[in-house]
Amino acid sequence: TEPTVAVGDGPALEDAVEAVTKGTPEYRQCPYPFYRSLREQAPIARLTPAHGVDTYLVTRYEDAHAVLADHRIGKDMHEAIDTYHALFGDACEALDDNLLFADPPRHTRLRHIAKTAFTPRHVKDLRPHIQELVDGLLDRCPTDEPVDLMSAFALPLPVMVICELLGIVGDERVEVLKWFAQVTRSRFSRDLKHELVEAEHWLRDYFTDLIHRTRENPTDDFLSVLAETPHDEEPLTDDELVSMIWVLLFAGHKTTTLQIGNCVYSLLTNPEQLEAVQANRELLPQAIEEMVRFEGSVETSTFRYALEDVEIGGTLIPRGAVVQIALASANRDPEKFPEPDRLDVTREGLQGNHLGFGFGAHYCLGAPLARLELEICLTSLLDRFPDMVLAMPSAHGGDWLKGPFPAFRGLERLPVALDPSR
Ligand code: HEM
Repeated sequence: TEPTVAVGDGPALEDAVEAVTKGTPEYRQCPYPFYRSLREQAPIARLTPAHGVDTYLVTRYEDAHAVLADHRIGKDMHEAIDTYHALFGDACEALDDNLLFADPPRHTRLRHIAKTAFTPRHVKDLRPHIQELVDGLLDRCPTDEPVDLMSAFALPLPVMVICELLGIVGDERVEVLKWFAQVTRSRFSRDLKHELVEAEHWLRDYFTDLIHRTRENPTDDFLSVLAETPHDEEPLTDDELVSMIWVLLFAGHKTTTLQIGNCVYSLLTNPEQLEAVQANRELLPQAIEEMVRFEGSVETSTFRYALEDVEIGGTLIPRGAVVQIALASANRDPEKFPEPDRLDVTREGLQGNHLGFGFGAHYCLGAPLARLELEICLTSLLDRFPDMVLAMPSAHGGDWLKGPFPAFRGLERLPVALDPSR
């Protein structure tokens, strides 16, 4: 069988390193040939990206797995505060003080508390609400002309779902969405610093107030459980709770938005795979795992920081260097996945095996919710619009996000005709 994406021979090593470091348009459009070159010739490549921080990019599955499991390569950047500022800008520090940027023992405590609240039941209870949100968004999509599925559907849904989880409803939700959009817009722009600080303050005050209201009138909802804290743990402070809400919004929106788009695009550009899923809907859960492997949204944006000198795969990573893990490359490593460039919805044994949701202590806390959202989105689209097609020539190759390294993988726009007969 032919590969789904004709990846071909990768570019020469120096060209690959330069393209990745600079985030060139060719690399952003289709990064896989570049990753292939790196896997084959420099599996732990030294880069010096635009932010000027010494960075090592890990591209093979085995090394990525080893890095994600290695406690000598941590996440807490606060010790290396200059590196932190270079990577994340200088605002939002208080809000970023959360489990995604913590090492044990702090991470263990925060993760334990978060898991107590993020139970399978809480996730399952969201099903009817997510379905309602999905139906509402699809009801508003035009069927007699092409629609951009990213802006009309994939973008609004995940933040709405997290608001639902946190019990933020009505006008308050509209306000939260507005201020959150302001943060995403201004986060990495020095010129928009004022906007960022303004939005950060508003959200911090709002979440603090929400926590006070929840503490006064607890129910059995997600936030109440989070605020209550298991008996064997030191309770979360209000600031820690605010950061926890923040990380859910941050880790749970762009990832899911882009993954919805990537799944729809992968199916529409691989009609025989789409047909297989249409013919047997029981394939959908494993098809979703395969699509997160094949075109995962967290492309290279998973990083660590060497707490001491560490040798991985024969390469010495010096203390203080940033270690960037190219999950998208590890997931296309032929040593691990036969015919990795082929989308195969019947591929088995993927869950817990591909790295699209990470691995180890920081494995995606929201993976069950993400899987549920993807399942509801895809089922609804396939049920309501079984003839849906891309509204662009298939040779176009997709409007993939540009922008610098490190990167998320996803589409800028996804024009589709939901009902091409109209
Ligand atoms: C962590 C991917 C959706 C919450 C991660 C990590 C990955 C990931 C790769 C590990 C990061 C690292 O090791 O540095 C994804 C993908 C998603 C998704 C591909 C969508 C398809 C969500 C959702 C939520 C969420 C919906 C919650 C509402 C989190 C949190 C962490 C995390 C809190 C940090 C866990 C920790 O540090 O212990 N995610 N994620 N994610 N994700 Fe997700």
